[in-house]
Amino acid sequence: MDRSPRQLQLAAATRAAQALRHIDPVTGAVTPAIELSSTYARDDQGEGRQPYIYARSGGPTIKTAEALLADLDGGEDAMVFASGMAAIVTVLETLRAGDHVVAPDVMYHGVINWLLHIEQTRGVKVTLFDATVPAALANAVRAETALVWIESPINPNWDVIDIAAAAKVAHAVGARLVVDSTVAPACTTRALDLGADIVFQSATKYLGGHSDITAGVLTCAQANDFWAELQEIRTLTGNVMAAFEAWLLVRGIRTLFLRYERASSNAMKFAQHFENHPKIQSVIYPGLASHPGHSIAKKQMKNGFGGMLSLQVKDYQTAHDISRFVQVFINATSLGGVESLIEHRIKVEGPNSIVPDTLLRLSIGIEDVNDLIADLEQALERAG
Ligand SMILES: Cc1ncc(COP(=O)(O)O)c(C=O)c1O
Repeated sequence: MDRSPRQLQLAAATRAAQALRHIDPVTGAVTPAIELSSTYARDDQGEGRQPYIYARSGGPTIKTAEALLADLDGGEDAMVFASGMAAIVTVLETLRAGDHVVAPDVMYHGVINWLLHIEQTRGVKVTLFDATVPAALANAVRAETALVWIESPINPNWDVIDIAAAAKVAHAVGARLVVDSTVAPACTTRALDLGADIVFQSATKYLGGHSDITAGVLTCAQANDFWAELQEIRTLTGNVMAAFEAWLLVRGIRTLFLRYERASSNAMKFAQHFENHPKIQSVIYPGLASHPGHSIAKKQMKNGFGGMLSLQVKDYQTAHDISRFVQVFINATSLGGVESLIEHRIKVEGPNSIVPDTLLRLSIGIEDVNDLIADLEQALERAG
């Protein structure tokens, strides 16, 4: 009988949970040390010890994070950055005067702001489309479109874009599709499998999961010339993530599947509780059958609809009061952490935003959902 070990095919949740699995041959330590060196000595022939030369182009702890992220997204490679915006700006840095970019008119406001900035300063052409109109993306692309940037679900309306359909539209005109999957990481949506060329995530959010790092990630379907250009930009601009953050990121990802599952089930119960509440105008959550994007969400969010939802209340003052009166939720911007956050979104996006000033954005965490429900109930009683 063959007694040699049989190779097991491990599920992604197992690979994530064991991402730092290691047994130190000397001490028996079960997690690897953080490699902090900023430079790497050449060998005795004076040659650089590939792949590590200088930490601005990466190091072993960064590689650990990148290998895990590429694995979970099903991509050929991944790159980690000092923040989500550092990764976004790196992609947009590839655009030249005359290149055309298409993106939704409501999405993470930092991307819109930077697109409008490079439209003015660099002659990049930008078309923003209404993601709630099914044919709007197809009508927005044209022959010189270099990049289609989408987000799904979209901040803070949680509109759901059909990624596979968007990939067809982008590729038909020879454009690249980048998907911001911050709110739907690989534990629920693998955008590369659906046709995206690049997946972007703010790893400050669900991937890190504990509101203690700022981090960004790009993963690619193909490590082609475009990817090499992105790598070069990261090295030359110094946008790389630091080793300590990379280690914390991997530690966060070890519980990603668990946290996302719990945040999703909490958000669903929370959304259902407030859906027909007399003091709430609407609950916007892709997990609810009443959400216009629900059927696409069901198709492309395989393992939960996440913890992000928005509430519309009757007026500005009520939204303002609720955000102040909560006791369990923290009134702060960001999302995807273990603790629940609430924010009166207009205060973050500013007066030029088209997001209604009656909208509260909530990031539902992993607490006992009954405490979250009771907290919002007591804030609603005091408000307006
Ligand atoms: C969907 C989305 N994309 C991008 C970003 C930018 O990421 P970071 O804040 O890590 O720079 C954020 C941050 O809020 C976000 O929510």
